[in-house]
Amino acid sequence: MKVLVVDSGGRGHAIAWQFQNDPGVKEVICAPGNAGIALEIRCENARTDEEILELAKKEKVDLVFIGPESPLTRGIVNLLLEEKIPVVGPVKRASILEGSKAYTKLLCREIGVPVAEFEVFEDPQKAKDYIAYVKYPVVVKADGLAQGKGSIVCSDEKEAYHAIDRLMVEKIFDEAGQKVVIEKRLFGIEISFFIFTDGESIAPMPVAQDYKRAYDNDEGLNTGGMGAYSPHRLEGEKLNRLVCEKVAMPLIRGFAEKEGVQYKGILYCGLMLVEDTPYLLEANVRLGDPEAEVILPRLKTPLSDISLQIINGVLSDKKVEWSQDYYCDVVAAVGRTRQIKDGKSKGWYHGYPGRYGKGYPISGIENVENPACKIFFAGVNNSPEKGLITDGGRVLHVVGKGKTLQEARDIAYRGIEKIHFEGIRYRKDIGKE
Ligand code: AMP
Ligand code: GLY
Repeated sequence: MKVLVVDSGGRGHAIAWQFQNDPGVKEVICAPGNAGIALEIRCENARTDEEILELAKKEKVDLVFIGPESPLTRGIVNLLLEEKIPVVGPVKRASILEGSKAYTKLLCREIGVPVAEFEVFEDPQKAKDYIAYVKYPVVVKADGLAQGKGSIVCSDEKEAYHAIDRLMVEKIFDEAGQKVVIEKRLFGIEISFFIFTDGESIAPMPVAQDYKRAYDNDEGLNTGGMGAYSPHRLEGEKLNRLVCEKVAMPLIRGFAEKEGVQYKGILYCGLMLVEDTPYLLEANVRLGDPEAEVILPRLKTPLSDISLQIINGVLSDKKVEWSQDYYCDVVAAVGRTRQIKDGKSKGWYHGYPGRYGKGYPISGIENVENPACKIFFAGVNNSPEKGLITDGGRVLHVVGKGKTLQEARDIAYRGIEKIHFEGIRYRKDIGKE
């Protein structure tokens, strides 16, 4: 089987690597991939949906696996299916579960999936009046896609008003903030819960802990994720049953009943466990990044088999097996760097998730020799003069594997300490329980 993975970051590297080690797969192509992925997997520079379609046709691939949300919400699955190309991922209509937070929250309310108290607003003044009225701390969320940064967790009214101004007036995420969801801030245990689904059955994946905040002890702004580990201490049959019964199954069935469209692919439930209730904070239509980097390596069943079961509507959770090894992913991001213009220093960039510099040479990769330490590349590029250079805020993921969480985390940290680029910054508390 020949597989095309559509992605350009660490998650795409992990997916492509999984297929590369899959006995049912002969060849893997990643599009567009990046210069780090290209060190071990063939990458092709197809970026638009049409270019991806052309590539899939030209290469006669047997399967396409879509990594990120943007092509899904644009409808790349519809485009590929029209040409009868087998693809893993929900169709455009079903991708609204991530494309509009307001839609999903309203659906959850309608069908009884637990969500925090919320309201939806299109008028900034009405949004502020609501914040003043409810009194409790809230989270202000841009309705549309905002690269995982569209939710602003607020401690008091002042912060919440400021969040409304940034999203709705300054429009920092453009049209994504035209509408906002304001919801009660919950306090509990946050986990990322993923399932495979063929539209009828679900197969839960193991649980990963993501670290969303930029700095140690969960301080700083929300990011796309600064690290992750799996297994999670709460993982197991009991949690699977609870989440599948209360959240995943009702959402998939409720969506199909309402829209007459099946949801197929991967569903990511961002949950807050408060006592015994799993509240859905967000639904995403894809694997998480960095969660994929610690979950996929635990997959013992070939991903190609699962993909075909999803496509053919014959998925069975009995057939999906996972290892009990621990994986810990520490993300190397670009922190504070000098802002240089016309050869002169113009002050400082604060670094990811704020503004950051690009093009810094990456060194020390070759010194990470431990076979239990794997690097998945995210924001990297190649320069003819400098070799591998940084090209994004999250640059690479260093993933350690161990029999215990402690061992996995030690291996990841020993690996990342050998890597250098200007401004490198990573959290020191990933996997520290
Ligand atoms: P979201 O984009 O909805 O996933 O939110 C991003 C992050 O904000 C989540 O992973 C949580 O850490 C936090 N968050 C979102 N909604 C809530 C909530 N209702 N209560 C507390 N934290 C939340
Ligand atoms: N790690 C969070 C996300 O992928 O959205």
